[in-house]
Amino acid sequence: MLVTGGAGFIGANFVHMVARTRPEVSIVVVDKLTYAGNPANLAGLDSARVQLVQADIADAAAMDELVAAADTVVHFAAESHNDNSLRDPAPFVHTNLVGTFTLLEAARRHDVRFHHVSTDEVFGDLELGAATRFSETTPYQPSSPYSATKAGSDHLVRAWVRSFGLRATISNCSNNYGPFQHIEKFIPRQITNILDGRTPKLYGTGAQVRDWIHVDDHNRAVLDILDRGRLGHTYNIGADQPELSNRDVIELICRLMGATDAAGRPIYEHVADRPGHDQRYAMDATKLRAELGWQPAFADFEAGLRQTIEWYTQHPQWWHAAKEATEAAYAAQGH
Ligand code: NAD
Ligand code: DAU
Repeated sequence: MLVTGGAGFIGANFVHMVARTRPEVSIVVVDKLTYAGNPANLAGLDSARVQLVQADIADAAAMDELVAAADTVVHFAAESHNDNSLRDPAPFVHTNLVGTFTLLEAARRHDVRFHHVSTDEVFGDLELGAATRFSETTPYQPSSPYSATKAGSDHLVRAWVRSFGLRATISNCSNNYGPFQHIEKFIPRQITNILDGRTPKLYGTGAQVRDWIHVDDHNRAVLDILDRGRLGHTYNIGADQPELSNRDVIELICRLMGATDAAGRPIYEHVADRPGHDQRYAMDATKLRAELGWQPAFADFEAGLRQTIEWYTQHPQWWHAAKEATEAAYAAQGH
């Protein structure tokens, strides 16, 4: 199995899951090791079964060789952070569009099964307070340079299926949380702010809603799709949790970590809002549940959040070196 972006957050958790649960599978991780990729995320894995190759997915010769040797490609590699895409969209076009195109061409040449990992953000956003959810047939309406390049990559995969018969599937998942998530992202940023003696930061009013799912639930769904998903199909992945605003989540983190004032009120500050900020995401994962029998193991968000707080608390050496630079970049953006 060739896993692109396997040194990043979701990819590394996926590699650990496959190594743990599928003894017959050997894995090659291809990762450029950008600021978001960390070989330490793969520590402890058996080097006879998991090999890390540092390369850019837009390098056609390197991808041809790696894809030719694989039965399956699971494509996680991406530039993944909205705020960075507002700062500089260029790497997003390079990796998410040109990189995906390069992999698709290699998979087509060698007739390799391909799974494309994508996001609910391709559908744009929903109205706050509405009952609507994204389904697999919701029209694409991405908002940011990040989500536009992910939407473009989904369209490339669909075109390669229809035009060239590529054996591919796509999954669109909501917001993940869990161990190994880069501290630029909302939940680990706030946890490490508190651990580092900084004040948690909420964009704008914090009324926006995200549809949180534990990374292991996302990855089990990807495995189910690889095993039993219908070729050429898209599956939405979401955990059907009660809706929480960003304000709810930051206040929960503060309470769980004791970042409260004498009156028990959570301590955090409002900072500049994200330009073009998507308001609400909500996934309808009925197809995944009905066809593949998938359901989330982390049905209790607070329990998953406690476990995640514990992980960052126990692993300061994993995140501390990146904290200063991450916060400096945010400060320059007004966040
Ligand atoms: P991440 O930023 O933590 O990891 C991305 C990985 O890709 C890193 O290891 C990085 O080094 C690697 N990479 C970047 N550019 C590369 C290139 N040109 N060549 C090779 N490797 C490259 O991202 P993540 O949060 O783990 O997201 C993984 C995938 O899941 C992405 O495709 C993302 O769009 C999708 N996704 C993420 C979420 C989420 O909540 N994080 C939700 C749904 C879908
Ligand atoms: O929905 C899936 C997407 O989820 C993935 O495709 C992306 O790769 C992933 O980064 C994530 O995108 P978001 O933009 O939703 O996640 P982020 O963690 O950046 O922010 C979550 C929400 O929290 C968002 O509404 C912005 C807000 N936020 C973020 C940060 C970093 C804050 O209020 N404060 C912060 O410090």
